[in-house]
Amino acid sequence: MKLSVYITRKLPDEVLQPLLEKFTVRMWESEEVAVPRDVLLQESERADALLTMISDSIDAELMGVAKNLKVISNLAVGFNNIDTEAAKQRGIVVTNTPDVLTETTADLTFALVMAAARRMTSAERALRDGEWTSWSPLGFTGQDVWGTTIGIIGMGRIGEAVARRAKGFGMEVLYCNRSRNAEAEEMLGALRKELDELLAESDHVVMLAPYTDETAGMIGARELALMKPTATFISASRGGIVDEDALYDALKKGTIWAAGLDVYATEPVPSNHPLLSLPNVTAVPHIGSASVRTRMEMMRVSMQAITDVLEGKNPKHRVV
Ligand code: DGY
Repeated sequence: MKLSVYITRKLPDEVLQPLLEKFTVRMWESEEVAVPRDVLLQESERADALLTMISDSIDAELMGVAKNLKVISNLAVGFNNIDTEAAKQRGIVVTNTPDVLTETTADLTFALVMAAARRMTSAERALRDGEWTSWSPLGFTGQDVWGTTIGIIGMGRIGEAVARRAKGFGMEVLYCNRSRNAEAEEMLGALRKELDELLAESDHVVMLAPYTDETAGMIGARELALMKPTATFISASRGGIVDEDALYDALKKGTIWAAGLDVYATEPVPSNHPLLSLPNVTAVPHIGSASVRTRMEMMRVSMQAITDVLEGKNPKHRVV
């Protein structure tokens, strides 16, 4: 009998072919709506492999019913939606999709720096709303990006890719990371700083750290108060790292200049969220890796991981 794979969101037919040739594949048939919890639990009971999204909570309860489960392949680099400890205890392999999304996610992160600093979304809204009445010397003026200082919190692969872009804009690069990133220092001249120093010295602060017990809520009122009033804050890894109430207050009071947000504590973020009412917030719906090419590559990588594990091979990107 063929081994069984369950995919928690509808994926395009053309990428599914390699899996269909080898395994019995079942899939949640909606691209837009996440699989309901009861369906996910039911499907997990018989699955040998799960291909999951960041919107699926893959916890100990699920692993408890998933008696045959050998691999969870997450369609993302982040995997905070998976209880990796529970997976480890049960000998379930967990994989992710790094590398293929690095440059695409760095593009979006840098786009948020530019959009927030130069007020692009509020300026566009004003134009569309007929509020652009004349060119004026200080109309729609923002903050410079070129020649300024960027502070990157979380200097992994995506952080380095953002730093490379920043160098092209003549920026000085500061970073804060658990361990030293010698390559970023040697190749990009990046300077390692303590968090407080980085916040105080940067014109653009970019959050790229993974969400862990250590990073949850690491940016709150105290940290935002250290930033320059002309500085932007970009949130591009996981929303729960930032205290959103504190961020709202800082943006509203002008403690900082602007924010660019791709991620939120709760996703999808409700459209009446206070942050979305602020003109100095540029907000996009968790689209860091969302180019067609990259998403197709991520699907291929996550399917290859399933094939590898089910065929007894070591997957390339194993988390546990
Ligand atoms: C990731 O890969 O973790 C992204 O946040 C999802 O696009």
